[in-house]
Amino acid sequence: MKRQLILAALLLAPLAAPAAEAPEIVAGTCAKCHGADGIAAAPATPHLNGQLPNYLAETMQKFQSGRRPTSVADHIPATLGAEQLAAIAAHYADSTAIRPKQETDAAKVQRGSALYFSRCVDCHAESGRVGDDDAPIMNAQELTHLLTQIKAFTDGKRKFVSLMRDSYRDLGTDDLESIAHYLASIEQYENPGKKKKKKRR
Ligand code: HEC
Ligand code: HEC
Repeated sequence: MKRQLILAALLLAPLAAPAAEAPEIVAGTCAKCHGADGIAAAPATPHLNGQLPNYLAETMQKFQSGRRPTSVADHIPATLGAEQLAAIAAHYADSTAIRPKQETDAAKVQRGSALYFSRCVDCHAESGRVGDDDAPIMNAQELTHLLTQIKAFTDGKRKFVSLMRDSYRDLGTDDLESIAHYLASIEQYENPGKKKKKKRR
């Protein structure tokens, strides 16, 4: 009898624990930079609120394995297992906090908008407000982060997904910077985490 109870507890524990732990891990390890609600609390740091949970979890695994370079030492501690990463991802994905408005360059925004709609909107739908499978939500993202990451692909620091490489063809530094300004200028939906996926425009 006692043995059965212990077995049941062992089976249930890994399922129940990670979700409960997520807010604590976030508060202790991530919040000083990403905020408890995913609104960046440090400069040049991405907002994580409302982001696709798959993208967040996969990115954390890439940081752990070194497949995506990061400027942060021990960014995602190896002690965090897949279930804990999924719970942290869900915690930030569910956050309905609103990203702050940022200063952007009006001329760059205009130029970036045209480029974005001809090159990027197929995957980063709705002005970057809606994720598409693995393609992350990018609207209202922190500008410095966008400027760095948008170029990380051409620098070879991040791997292109196959078709994204084609969309970058012949785009120069100014073009990419303009697209970053455009994305940073777009306000987010009030409730990004819960918004239903809309048709592409
Ligand atoms: C010292 C500040 C700092 C801490 C602590 C930190 N991060 Fe980060 N995080 C960053 C910065 C800066 C980036 C931008 C890319 C890079 O250099 O890695 C980033 C990028 C990310 C990204 C990629 C976002 C995107 O849009 O591609 C994820 C996901 C992430 N962090 C999750 C976490 C989680 C989860 C924790 C806690 C376990 C955490 N970070 C702790 C600073 C931090
Ligand atoms: C075929 C689909 C596709 C197209 C077209 C595409 N992307 Fe992406 N994009 C993705 C995927 C998938 C990822 C996630 C890659 C990863 O996990 O590292 C991504 C990631 C990104 C990121 C990283 C965001 C972050 O928070 O770190 C940036 C920046 C980006 N794309 C910019 C662009 C720009 C600019 C264009 C147009 C010139 C574009 N993408 C076109 C699919 C696409």
